[in-house]
Amino acid sequence: MALRMDRFVIQGGRPLRGTIRVSGSKNAALPMMAASLVASGPLRLRQVPDLADVRTLAALLQTLGIGSRRDSGNLAMECVDNRPCRADYDLVRRMRASICVLGPLLAKRRKAIVSLPGGCNIGHRPIDLHLKGLRALGAEIQIENGYVIASASRLTGASIHLGGDQGSTVTGTCNVMTAACLARGTSVIDAAACEPEVVDLGHLLIAMGARIEGLCTPRLVIDGVEELAGADHTVIPDRIEAATLMIAAAITGGDVTIENVRAPQMVDVLETLSQIGVSLDWKPNQCRVSVNGPLRPITCTATPYPGFPTDVQAQLTALLCLVPGQSVVTDKVFPSRFMHVSELLRMGADIRREGDSAVIEGVSALSGAHVMASDLRASAALVLAGLAARNETNIHRIYHLDRGYEQLELKLQSLGASVNRIPDEL
Ligand code: EPU
Repeated sequence: MALRMDRFVIQGGRPLRGTIRVSGSKNAALPMMAASLVASGPLRLRQVPDLADVRTLAALLQTLGIGSRRDSGNLAMECVDNRPCRADYDLVRRMRASICVLGPLLAKRRKAIVSLPGGCNIGHRPIDLHLKGLRALGAEIQIENGYVIASASRLTGASIHLGGDQGSTVTGTCNVMTAACLARGTSVIDAAACEPEVVDLGHLLIAMGARIEGLCTPRLVIDGVEELAGADHTVIPDRIEAATLMIAAAITGGDVTIENVRAPQMVDVLETLSQIGVSLDWKPNQCRVSVNGPLRPITCTATPYPGFPTDVQAQLTALLCLVPGQSVVTDKVFPSRFMHVSELLRMGADIRREGDSAVIEGVSALSGAHVMASDLRASAALVLAGLAARNETNIHRIYHLDRGYEQLELKLQSLGASVNRIPDEL
């Protein structure tokens, strides 16, 4: 059977203008969907983006007895069979975030058999910290035939340190925090991730009856409860999509008002863009982004929240390719997340890799080329470069982009970009 892989064809050089609304956050929605496994009643999540990753997780959860129904932007989820506890390789391999079902399954059904997520283009992505946290709560865990096999009678509260060499773990914190909510007694999680997506999951769990203190800080104190109820919760806006759209406005020298953005969750991105010389004009929940003068090179390092997000590193690199002078971008979270560099070079960028950094010499223009998307954020960086480049850019394998950006080409078209999706058969 022929495999369909769409590509984007972009005619670059058009300044983006207009108003656009940011969708709900993918990385907040995914662990919240997995929390349906610990809910004893219906869960209603609002502002859930319609993305390939969300559909993949809904399909996986269906095999685990969770029924879900989408009506417009909302997802209604309810457990119809609480017996299955096996997450198969076939679905897990499509998306690493499937690992988010591990903690909830173990806490509620006392057993979890979850395929180990496979390799990934953004670097080595172990789950040792997830397993360490769940073992501390009393789980017996083995790895057999590519699966994590975990069991426990009832989890017991414990002191857990979740820090690793690269800092805290986002989905690891989600797994352990959710599991600890149903453990007997008190758990203290140190070096917890503070990303807004983790905090939003915490708010959902609290709405379900969990007792969590310390959200937004690296120390969470959780008093376990006997049962968690259903809840109705609105997912936060996607700060990574917001940042991507802001950079789209900046890289094309446009003037775009971006709605549904929460400035306090994006402080480091906003400071970085201001430092480069991008104009940001704020009203409540919206930001007008324009360029009114020359842009300046910068040095920027991606670190865990509240630092500059690794998920915006590639997009920032694309912008800096066109900023005169030398910029340096370092990624301390995923030190080899630089797959976009070789493709940007094909478009005329001047970038040199040095360890966990990219040294960028600004060029006066990029030129359209055929380039290959390698992962979600690298694809976004190539779209941004294509929007600014002379002539036509073809971005192949944009299924990566469909995993995490809702209707990106339609949003960009509405701002005046020429971006078209062409079906390719392989
Ligand atoms: N790490 C370990 N051991 C672990 C877990 C992580 O050493 O057990 C290391 C990783 O190798 C990495 C660092 O810790 O160097 C941070 O990884 P983390 O666990 O925080 O990443 P994640 O939870 O797997 C989430 C997002 C990613 C985002 C990272 C970092 C979701 C579904 N995914 O991944 O998002 O880059 O946090 O902020 O929330 C994306 O949306 O494009 C994306 C990749």
